[in-house]
Amino acid sequence: MTIEPIVIEPCEPGRLTPDDLRTLFLFEKLTDEQLGWLAEHGCTMRVGSGGLVVREGDPAESFFVLLSGAVSLTTRVGDDEVTTNRTDQRGVYMGATQAYLRDDGMPRKYMASMRALSDTEFFVLAAEDFGGLMRDWFPMAIHLLEGLALGIRNNQAVVGERQRLSALGALSAGLMHELNNPAAAASRATSALRQRVAAMRMKLGKLAAGKVAPDRLVALLELQEEVIERAAKAPVMTAMQVSDLEDELGGWMEERSITAGWDIAPVFAQGGIDTDCLNEMETRLASPELLDQAIHWVGYALETEQLMSDIEDATGRVSNLVHAAKQYSHVDRSAHQWIDVHTGLDSTLVMLGHKIGEGVRVVKDYDRTLPEIPAHPAELNQVWTNIVDNAVQAMHAAGTLTIRTYREDERLVVSVGDTGPGIPPEVRKRIFEPFFTTKPVGEGTGLGLDISYRIVVNTHGGDIDVSSEPGDTRFLIRLPFSEPPSA
Ligand SMILES: Nc1ncnc2c1ncn2[C@@H]1O[C@H](COP(=O)(O)OP(=O)(O)OP(=O)(O)O)[C@@H](O)[C@H]1O
Ligand SMILES: [Mg+2]
Repeated sequence: MTIEPIVIEPCEPGRLTPDDLRTLFLFEKLTDEQLGWLAEHGCTMRVGSGGLVVREGDPAESFFVLLSGAVSLTTRVGDDEVTTNRTDQRGVYMGATQAYLRDDGMPRKYMASMRALSDTEFFVLAAEDFGGLMRDWFPMAIHLLEGLALGIRNNQAVVGERQRLSALGALSAGLMHELNNPAAAASRATSALRQRVAAMRMKLGKLAAGKVAPDRLVALLELQEEVIERAAKAPVMTAMQVSDLEDELGGWMEERSITAGWDIAPVFAQGGIDTDCLNEMETRLASPELLDQAIHWVGYALETEQLMSDIEDATGRVSNLVHAAKQYSHVDRSAHQWIDVHTGLDSTLVMLGHKIGEGVRVVKDYDRTLPEIPAHPAELNQVWTNIVDNAVQAMHAAGTLTIRTYREDERLVVSVGDTGPGIPPEVRKRIFEPFFTTKPVGEGTGLGLDISYRIVVNTHGGDIDVSSEPGDTRFLIRLPFSEPPSA
């Protein structure tokens, strides 16, 4: 993108007399002396039609009053220049309009770009002169204005705080939801395990009381170990296969009048133990009167193994989630660092797991060879969250979410695609505006993309683009590989 230069027009001093200035509404009721000061310090500038007078974001060095002609004011919103005002009203002012505020160490910038729509003429004061005169001539008004500016800034700070809080709220709600399932599963498995272990103690007592020859007991313990090992190595079966196996095992037990044989058959089936294995057990045990006890004993052993691996799974899931949450919020890391974007993308997908749901297929197409980039990881996660959240909402929980990463010149691109209905052109123009939402009240605040835009563009020196047609909407986030000059 080429940046249009500002052609500094020469400014002619002393062209306006105090009487000329008196005709401008802004200078109403000033004394002759004050008007004289203005005439002396100000100058007159002509700009040809179409010329850019000031550019948004440049240091605010001058204060402009329109004398003749027409101007437009524009502000950048996303990729668009949005026109906020067009006027040919003589006397309107713009530029360094806040120069009178006490300096807080931050250089003031132009809040909008101004372009001449026809040949125009301005009365121009240096920001410093304008600020000085305001403070000297109207001290009380300045106090009031400062109060107002401070009030607005405080408001913004509170709103910003609130935004962070609501992000935190969403994060913890998601996390709680995700943690709840494995925690509940682990606690269920633990209480089942307690029962089984108690039953095993009883069974051991019975076996011992049954005057079982010591060598039979040893054989039984060996069998138990073998069966558990076999179960651990058993191939994964379909639900159909498991149920067939259950029938077969149930039949086997019935033939031998095993107590509650049909109840215990599923335990063996789950462990992938077949009738061949049971036959082998029977032969090796060589004691028909002991078979019933032995089957139950081994069944309990299998069950406790299964319960323990359930607990292992569940607690593993809990620690994965905690790990993801840590990555996500970067509670234990400093702000600006070199990061692999994939880490953040993955942890965001884990955190949003419950929102993405079963109906959405997630396709990851990462270029793992991409180098690390300088970034604020927690802020970028906010961006991924907002954009993935929008995509999932747009698809109404059914479709395909595609996350791609690739290199494009000197930038890394993250593309988040969804197969939702797309964004109509008239909506597309406004999506990056704060508080713009098409969602019902209470569902969207319209801040998601505004926050994302500010993080990507202002903090990271990157940009966000969107292309959309029904069934294929893509948000492209481009991030530089090197530190932005301002970082
Ligand atoms: N992937 C998408 N598909 C269709 N429309 C989208 C998509 N992403 C954003 N939009 C549109 O952009 C609007 C603005 O999005 P933004 O994230 O800023 O706010 P929101 O999602 O409405 O509210 P929230 O503050 O809760 O994120 C949405 O209301 C929606 O109309
Ligand atoms: Mg949103």
